[in-house]
Amino acid sequence: MSNNLSEHAKEVIGHWIKKYPADRKQSAVLAALREVQHENRGYLTVELMDAVADYLGMSRIAVYEVASFYSMLETRPCGRHSISVCTNVSCMLTGADEIVAHLEKKLSIRTGESTKDGRYYLKCEEECLAACCGGPMMMVDHIYHEKLTPAKVDAILDKLD
Ligand code: FES
Repeated sequence: MSNNLSEHAKEVIGHWIKKYPADRKQSAVLAALREVQHENRGYLTVELMDAVADYLGMSRIAVYEVASFYSMLETRPCGRHSISVCTNVSCMLTGADEIVAHLEKKLSIRTGESTKDGRYYLKCEEECLAACCGGPMMMVDHIYHEKLTPAKVDAILDKLD
């Protein structure tokens, strides 16, 4: 039911729909899911995915397939700020393990978990985010932070709402 979409979400989705041929509005599905996830503070619900499907005239299962395929989309409740630390070889050699340990201690959670206050989601250890020269590095809400130290991590996280 498209009633579950906010007016703002409909505006954003409409902006993307216009970029595609009139009979291809389902091409806006990724932009639509990204927007409704953002409005829902970081994750998708079945109701929201159904609303996107109905709005774009797609089958619901097709939207679930997209949502479960792309790693930037969350289909389960999680903290609103998503943190991923690269632990592949270049970052590992420059101290990624220390960064992961620091985050887990600071947030009192393990990788894969969210803080109880819903503020942080320590999503995963990434395999390589193509910023190898800047290791150790992490991505927070899709923004790269490089040459990390525990103090830098603290400063980055403490600025988030
Ligand atoms: S190894 Fe960490 S970004 Fe490539």
